[in-house]
Amino acid sequence: MPMICLSDFEAYAKKHLSKTTWDFFAAGADECCTRDENLLAYKRIRFRPRILRDMSVMDTRTTLLGTEISFPVGIAPTGFHRLAWPDGEKSTARAAEAMNTCYITSTFSTCTVEEIAAVAPNGFRWFQLYIHCNRALSERLVRRVEAAGFQGLVLTADLPYTGKRRDDIRNNFQHRLTKLPGGARLLCSEYGLLPNSIDPSINWNDIYWLQSLTRLPIILKGILTKEDADLAVRHGVQGIIVSNHGGRQLDGGPATIDALIEIVDTVQDRVEVYLDGGIRTGSDVLKALALGAKCVFLGRPALWGLTYKVNEETWGLYVHSFSCSQTLGCHSVSGIGRNLVQVSKL
Ligand code: FNR
Repeated sequence: MPMICLSDFEAYAKKHLSKTTWDFFAAGADECCTRDENLLAYKRIRFRPRILRDMSVMDTRTTLLGTEISFPVGIAPTGFHRLAWPDGEKSTARAAEAMNTCYITSTFSTCTVEEIAAVAPNGFRWFQLYIHCNRALSERLVRRVEAAGFQGLVLTADLPYTGKRRDDIRNNFQHRLTKLPGGARLLCSEYGLLPNSIDPSINWNDIYWLQSLTRLPIILKGILTKEDADLAVRHGVQGIIVSNHGGRQLDGGPATIDALIEIVDTVQDRVEVYLDGGIRTGSDVLKALALGAKCVFLGRPALWGLTYKVNEETWGLYVHSFSCSQTLGCHSVSGIGRNLVQVSKL
């Protein structure tokens, strides 16, 4: 089957993964309204295409906190990559390195940070942190991440407790993980972090705690309101990821693309603003950039690509899909602005 868009990879993954794994990747919280809205919201946004603008040369490069990447699409943190492919996060890291983009490695990675760094030594990586109830474990993890050469810490702040994902409960997903080969390692991840050991008491003061531990830039993931965006800036983070965890946590919250504008307007370029959730086409990328995201990140599509074991091809599709910016009249990332979309109709 020719793979020409990300839906093709989705169909492939659905066909080839076990039902339990597919359900885990696809899951949203409760009725999945927010998960689905993440995708639908893009369909409501229309472009304002411009013409006669010399589109003979295209430049998709941009920077994340000063580091250049080849195009403004990175890999969001998702756990348990060995469920998709035996090499797990090592393959993901290699693909991201080959495509010269940013890979945010999850706390629930099923390869160690040292293994990941070894297979893709020149990769640009941030590490996503869940803070453990036992703070000493988190401290040790941050030290390992720094020593392994990761260039940023992404603190995920929207998971005081895990969302209620109905299919995972029906499939007894947690229990089944322990039955897989190497299952105990999978369940605990390399860091001894059981899913219910994330500290639900984390609060804004913990940003200062994290800053006292590390000199790495801190990027806060899970922001959906201008109030929290402003607090994040005041607490000295270097970046914000507008995210609702792919609709896996709170059902009933906004689509991330709908939350983006008030956040961008509040932040006013004081820190970089990124977005994840529902990005499935090149035009989704452009709409998010037009509304002020510096870069977007992919969650589930990276897992589909990993299942097919051609992540490089998956990324190639994204680069290719930038061809839609040729017909939009925009030849570089820096030239993408709000005037390219009909904001008034949002
Ligand atoms: C996630 N996500 C996530 N986020 C995080 O901060 N740490 C994690 O370990 C995980 N794990 C995880 C597993 C799976 C299977 C999924 C689908 C998602 C959320 C992820 O980073 C991102 O916010 C969303 O996946 C983005 O939405 P899309 O691209 O999947 O629509």
